[in-house]
Amino acid sequence: MLEKRTLGKTDIKISPIGIGVMMWMSGKGIMGRMAPDLTDEVMNDIIKESFAGGINFFDTAEMYGFGRSETNLAKALKANDIKDEEVIIETKWAPILRRARNMRRTINKRIKYLEPYTIDQYMVHQPISFSSIKTEMKELARLVEQGKVRSVGVSNYNAKKMRKAHEELEKLGLPLAANQVHYSLVRRNIETDGILDTAKELGITITAYTPLAGGLLTGKLHNNPDVMKNKNLFYRMVAKRNLEESIPLVETLTEISKAYEVLPGQVALNWLVSYSGDTVITIPGATKAYQAKEAAGAMTFSLSKAELDEIAEVAERFL
Ligand SMILES: NC(=O)c1ccc[n+]([C@@H]2O[C@H](COP(=O)([O-])OP(=O)(O)OC[C@H]3O[C@@H](n4cnc5c(N)ncnc54)[C@H](OP(=O)(O)O)[C@@H]3O)[C@@H](O)[C@H]2O)c1
Repeated sequence: MLEKRTLGKTDIKISPIGIGVMMWMSGKGIMGRMAPDLTDEVMNDIIKESFAGGINFFDTAEMYGFGRSETNLAKALKANDIKDEEVIIETKWAPILRRARNMRRTINKRIKYLEPYTIDQYMVHQPISFSSIKTEMKELARLVEQGKVRSVGVSNYNAKKMRKAHEELEKLGLPLAANQVHYSLVRRNIETDGILDTAKELGITITAYTPLAGGLLTGKLHNNPDVMKNKNLFYRMVAKRNLEESIPLVETLTEISKAYEVLPGQVALNWLVSYSGDTVITIPGATKAYQAKEAAGAMTFSLSKAELDEIAEVAERFL
């Protein structure tokens, strides 16, 4: 059984597995076109299954349908009578072609869309903007001081930029809580490029996104490659690149999953949040209730050191 952990050096207690609601865009925006049209019932059930299984953490962003994913998340939480203090909400500012000062203009929309739920973690979505990291961190610290957000994070930052963000926030008396990066058993570069080591050294949580490689690590594409036809280009590319190479890995995940009476994708998620101690948490995406149930079910067992190492070894080619 995996217990709740602390987000970076904050006082926020978070389930090691949360749910990413990027696909809850209701067709809005450029990204929205690649997302399925989800009914309220489906989204409500995803929240229901999440809480029933011990998940208390959801990831969204301004970019996910220009607020539609945030609105849908708040609506589904309300439909389930979830109270603000029961849920940890993470959302992100979209920095591209903007200056840091834009945060003070757009934060009120984030707050409004997520109402009555408060923002526990506010992240800079990418390290690409017209402002420096120093200016962005100052702006984020201002939002914390004003009580508009509870903690600060970044996303897609390399080790050097993450350290810089940490240093700038430290001067302002705040911790950098998390860096959200692409990390899965078929994409392990953070283990060798300094991101994971720096996070461990500085006490920053790594939030792994795309942890199932778009579903590839559940084994469903290996069993039925036609599943891929419904996915967008990004996931088709990830799958195409890794489908053949991940056969031995999925076989190992399947073998180990049998001992715990779980599924290969659940072993993949459990590995991700266990292999590096408490440093990594993850946010698999869910567009169906059973997916949230399975994500929560991935916290119900503990892999042994030998199993963690065996999986790492068979996935060595993805380092
Ligand atoms: N910071 C960033 O730049 C960034 C970038 C990407 C993602 N993210 C965040 O990370 C979250 C997750 O990433 P992701 O959606 O790219 O990747 P993912 O979690 O690897 O894949 C999610 C997809 O896998 C399938 N899936 C999930 N659970 C399954 C299960 N139990 N059995 C079978 N298939 C299952 C679903 O596909 P179907 O919908 O086809 O059923 C789902 O949409 C996003 O929601 C978002 O919050 C952040």
